[in-house]
Amino acid sequence: MYREWILELIRCYILKDDGRFKEILDKLVKYEKANGNESEIYEIEQFIQETNKKSNNDSSYYKPSKGLIMRDNKSKKHLDSPKDKVSNSNLFEVIYPKDITNQSLIFNDKINNKIKEIVYEYNNKEQVIQLGLKVENKILLCGPPGCGKTSLAYELTKKLNIPLAYVKLDSLITSLMGQTSSNIRKIFESVKDESIVIFIDEFDAIAKKRADSNDLGELKRIVNSLLQIIDGIPDNVFFIAATNFEESLDSAIIRRFDSIINLERPNIDSLNKYIQTFLEDYKKFVLDIDINRISKFTLGMSFSEVNDLLSYSLKRQIVHKKEPSLSTDDIIESLVNKIFQFSEEYDQISRLAELNKKGISIRELSEITSIPKSTISDRIRKVKSNE
Ligand SMILES: Nc1ncnc2c1ncn2[C@@H]1O[C@H](COP(=O)(O)OP(=O)(O)O)[C@@H](O)[C@H]1O
Ligand SMILES: [Mg+2]
Repeated sequence: MYREWILELIRCYILKDDGRFKEILDKLVKYEKANGNESEIYEIEQFIQETNKKSNNDSSYYKPSKGLIMRDNKSKKHLDSPKDKVSNSNLFEVIYPKDITNQSLIFNDKINNKIKEIVYEYNNKEQVIQLGLKVENKILLCGPPGCGKTSLAYELTKKLNIPLAYVKLDSLITSLMGQTSSNIRKIFESVKDESIVIFIDEFDAIAKKRADSNDLGELKRIVNSLLQIIDGIPDNVFFIAATNFEESLDSAIIRRFDSIINLERPNIDSLNKYIQTFLEDYKKFVLDIDINRISKFTLGMSFSEVNDLLSYSLKRQIVHKKEPSLSTDDIIESLVNKIFQFSEEYDQISRLAELNKKGISIRELSEITSIPKSTISDRIRKVKSNE
């Protein structure tokens, strides 16, 4: 019996199986207790305490759970990025979960449930593996800009409580033929023993349809090696890719992902929530805002566009009007102002037409823009007849 336990302890030590290791020690204590060997019990218990103290001091990325064979990455507190051979710049930047600030992100129920599922599954991967099933660890985030892809990648990292390797595309993509594939390999190779998120933003830059490019040879090579690399991602690595252009991705690559999460532009409910939350940070302002109305005329914008609009409106109040107050009309005025600042004339009129459709009257538009009502209606009519 004793001999078996000792052999088992050695096996656990080699495999870094902390859970099983402690289980065997427990058995030993019980055995010695049954035989009344006080001094042996004391020695073993001391040993267990010391071991626990040591592993608690170690700021490892995970708590070893019972029965699971863990890889030893405790000794590496800082991860070093591999470098691009030519520029010698780091291929990724490591961001630790404690350094990610909590943002109140708004997602629909489907996405919120998916996030919970992913985190639960990753944290309980031993159960999934024991059932002979595969842990979900490859997700693709799609959708228009400013709707939360990058933010979700960070939020997931925080929830998984593991570091994030943010892949730096500018270092990854080099002009040297063949270097990009080799850089991608280096990245995945260097973290294969870590519990870590690898995040490739703007994924379309490297995973474009193979028939889509002029530079066929190189792109084909990159996509082919990506396919192999994605297939070989171990369970401890969580791969997140994000793109605004899902339709331009190679379909074989899309199929490699366990889930595709589509982050769409916010609907009225999400806009209401978002604007409400945004304004909560500006309690010093006198606010007179019909949130529902603002949601109605910002419908179709992304979260970050609404964020820009509200921030711009607040700044205008302070800088131009020197008034710490903000009303619905101020926000509409800012919006129209933005339209006139940054777009071509045709675009301006078509955007005014859009606002008119969303419930801002010609009279209001005329007051803000100082363009006569009749001119605005005329031009809007012209835009509509061209559509
Ligand atoms: N779902 C969301 N909920 C709340 N705010 C959001 C959301 N999506 C985007 N934002 C806001 O827009 C900013 C930019 O979003 P980001 O995650 O970079 O979008 P993407 O990566 O899709 O272009 C965020 O910092 C946040 O302020
Ligand atoms: Mg982004």
